[in-house]
Amino acid sequence: MKVLVIGPGGREHAIVRSLLADPNVSEVHAAPGNAGIGKLVPTHAIDANDPDAVAALATKLTVDLVVVGPEAPLAAGVSDAVRAAGIPVFGPSKAAAQLEASKAFAKQVMAEAGVPTAMARVASNAEEAADALDTFGAPYVVKDDGLAAGKGVVVTKNRDEALAHAQTCFDVGGSVVIEEFLDGPEVSVFVLCDGRNTVALSPAQDFKRIFDNDEGPNTGGMGAYTPLEWAPEGLVQEVIDRVAQPTVNEMARRGTPFVGVLFVGLALTKRGTRVIEFNVRFGDPETQAVLARLKTPLGSLLLAAAKGELDKAEELRWSKDTAVAVVVASENYPDTPRTGDRIRGLKKVDELEGVHVIHAGTKLDEEGKVVSAGGRVLAVVALGTDLVEARERAYDGVELVQLEGGQFRTDIGRKAARGEIKVASTNGSATGTLPVTKAKA
Ligand code: AMP
Ligand code: GLY
Repeated sequence: MKVLVIGPGGREHAIVRSLLADPNVSEVHAAPGNAGIGKLVPTHAIDANDPDAVAALATKLTVDLVVVGPEAPLAAGVSDAVRAAGIPVFGPSKAAAQLEASKAFAKQVMAEAGVPTAMARVASNAEEAADALDTFGAPYVVKDDGLAAGKGVVVTKNRDEALAHAQTCFDVGGSVVIEEFLDGPEVSVFVLCDGRNTVALSPAQDFKRIFDNDEGPNTGGMGAYTPLEWAPEGLVQEVIDRVAQPTVNEMARRGTPFVGVLFVGLALTKRGTRVIEFNVRFGDPETQAVLARLKTPLGSLLLAAAKGELDKAEELRWSKDTAVAVVVASENYPDTPRTGDRIRGLKKVDELEGVHVIHAGTKLDEEGKVVSAGGRVLAVVALGTDLVEARERAYDGVELVQLEGGQFRTDIGRKAARGEIKVASTNGSATGTLPVTKAKA
């Protein structure tokens, strides 16, 4: 089969890498790709957010499957255009992508489907925001209702800061979702969906803040590891039974079936498992770690999902190893990242045992040298027999990467490796399905 992968980042590089390892995949193309993807497969310089351009490329290349990586093309309707061209696509329709594009919509679906999540209110002006903040109390959680690449969320004990974030969203005509604070370790679970059936991948943990010990502003994600030795037994089944399957059923009931990855961001709180957010695509950088362990051929699996045939797909097989991904970001990320710097040492990283480099924000300059071209530049991904070994290998790799001003966290997977992660509740007794109430005007 021939596959076209849409997107420019590390997630897409990881997807391309896994597709090439599938014996049923004969050819892979990418658009727009990056320097790492370009070393593996032909890339096409189109606007990946333009539905017609993607559908035209897929048709021209006569691919059997299109895999859409990022949220922006999904929210723009790329999947709809490809599907309309008669080509199977792994990625939700524009309507179904609202589960990520609008946090308020996601909350409504969760309420309908009985999915346990944080109590929340929608606010569209300062008065409503203040009222909602005082209802839930500190720490305050204020989320931009629209797409913000993981950066539209402010969690703070400072009420003024919370209000100020809400105001910046109102100023551009937006609204916010204000929530109760969920306390407890966070988990990312990717659930493959075909419109009816669901298959969960192995859970991972992401590190959202820029600095060690979860300090500094939120980013797209600075590292990840998988599997989670400390996660309660039965967590994945709970996610399927209480979250993913009810959501997929509800989306089908609404006439907007969900095909693609339902990315369930969870908090394991004292009161049970709660959904923090839905995304409608693979997580980045969790995918770099998760796919490093997946032994099941990826192309066949994603094609089965795209065709509504996940129930016929083979059971997933996983490596026994642990995978760690450590992101190297450019200077000043997540603010205004500095770009255009030479990146050296990557060949040496790839030579390390169990280690490979996944490119994210990279490109080739006029001389054909790899330079930084984005905030998150690359990830060093390592497999090891346990988390301690995988971390050692990943950081050995990171040390070899030369990028001026490059930043990375030194504590990816460290707490877990030291056995320091505590889960308050392991009984899965998440009962608090709480509807969204629109703030009083
Ligand atoms: P989101 O874009 O909804 O994933 O939020 C980004 C990050 O903000 C999450 O990964 C959490 O670390 C944090 N966050 C979001 N919602 C909550 C909440 N209700 N309670 C605590 N932390 C939250
Ligand atoms: N790493 C979290 C995300 O992809 O949104």
